[in-house]
Amino acid sequence: MNVNPDTAGASRDPVTVVIVGAGSRAMNYASYALKHPEAMRVVGVVEPNPVRRAHTASLYDLPADRCFADLADFAARPKLADAVINGTLDALHVQTTLPLLHAGYDVLLEKPVGVSEDEVLELYRVAEALGRKVMICHVLRYAPFYQELNRIIREGEIGDVIHVQTEENVDYHHMATAFVRGKFASRERDGSSFLMAKCCHDLDLISWFKTGIKPVRVSSFGRLSQFREDRAPEGAGTRCVADCPIESRCPYSAKTLYVDRQLWPVYVWPGYLDGVRLSDEEKLASLVGDNRFGRCVWRCDNDIVDHQVVQFDFEDGSTASHSLVGGAAKACRTVHITGTKGEIYGELEEGSFVVRYPDPWQEEGVYTERKVMLEVSGEMHGGGDHRLVEDFLLVVGGDPGAGYSTSLAHSVVGHVAGFRADVSMETGRTVEIDWDDILV
Ligand SMILES: NC(=O)c1ccc[n+]([C@@H]2O[C@H](COP(=O)([O-])OP(=O)(O)OC[C@H]3O[C@@H](n4cnc5c(N)ncnc54)[C@H](O)[C@@H]3O)[C@@H](O)[C@H]2O)c1
Repeated sequence: MNVNPDTAGASRDPVTVVIVGAGSRAMNYASYALKHPEAMRVVGVVEPNPVRRAHTASLYDLPADRCFADLADFAARPKLADAVINGTLDALHVQTTLPLLHAGYDVLLEKPVGVSEDEVLELYRVAEALGRKVMICHVLRYAPFYQELNRIIREGEIGDVIHVQTEENVDYHHMATAFVRGKFASRERDGSSFLMAKCCHDLDLISWFKTGIKPVRVSSFGRLSQFREDRAPEGAGTRCVADCPIESRCPYSAKTLYVDRQLWPVYVWPGYLDGVRLSDEEKLASLVGDNRFGRCVWRCDNDIVDHQVVQFDFEDGSTASHSLVGGAAKACRTVHITGTKGEIYGELEEGSFVVRYPDPWQEEGVYTERKVMLEVSGEMHGGGDHRLVEDFLLVVGGDPGAGYSTSLAHSVVGHVAGFRADVSMETGRTVEIDWDDILV
């Protein structure tokens, strides 16, 4: 599916949306309205944080009666928009989306859909029963790299897909910030496992490459091996800036990463998203004080694993594996797909992949290959974020040209496989998936 940004939504009134959870992700999607007011208009916000609510109101010129602190107040009102962008955190996704569906809204919902298989399936069944459109922010399906790769598979160029290998390497500073010190570090507190928080995208891509053919068994191994107290280097303190004698030599130093290199400001600095800017002195004082990002990376309250591998067995006898590792030097997603006629190999961040075919008739070598170069924009997720919004607008508008490939119905497959992979990792056994019991 290719969405033409020049024509998306052009021939009709703008699709109206309300933001629920005006955090960094929802505001990123909503910003599409600032660039394309003819296609999308933000007409309300639900956000408990008063500063953020006011900031959103001023950005989109929202009257007071369209700004809500509480979702229940908004859902109780007569419908005031075509759709909702739900950018709340993982554990709130299902409980906030259910009332929105009952209130008549179609929803663009951040991933993961929910934090347990049961709640994801409950949402799916309610959406099906009410006939609402729920599109999941699996933005990678909209990245040109994966769109082209999937097109080649769909058109049969590499034959039947026999094996898919994907890999996500989360680099050390992202790992430390989001999954050790930050808001996705604890399954108990934050709701998601490492696999579901970081790689429900990759599980979704695997299910997309195998469209129409479902995984019937999964197994998985993983551990928290690195970011734990017994791995702390000798002499390490408890807070980088306050008491650590090895801070200047540590790649995880909060001062180096967040003050000197200015990485991850939205996560680290209170109020950053709402326009607050701290001086370097204020940042250092915050890291000495109670800022969670000032903690030693080996002495946090993280309980998720930091590496995991998942294996899939599909109903047609094909297989797949996905590896997830945190703490890599370089962030990258790789993919290697082998079919009966050829193979595809590439790395998202390189913006290119190769397609190879067996070729014993070559004068030199035993295969031919061609390189496919793709645009990798500076925008997040290989350029997928705003392409996804464009498609959502087509979906809400009922446009027959809409791709809608990240519908809730499609997204359920990768999610169920992921939840069951985590069960496998925890129990040490292979887990079966009987789709007749799952899908209506
Ligand atoms: N698609 C992707 O690739 C991708 C990338 C990063 C994060 N995410 C996901 O996006 C989601 C949002 O992440 P974020 O970093 O933008 O979070 P955030 O913390 O910046 O934003 C969440 C917002 O929800 C608000 N909120 C809390 N309770 C609410 C309620 N009951 N009703 C309405 N709003 C409420 C918070 O005040 C906050 O403003 C997460 O689920 C995360 O896993 C997806």
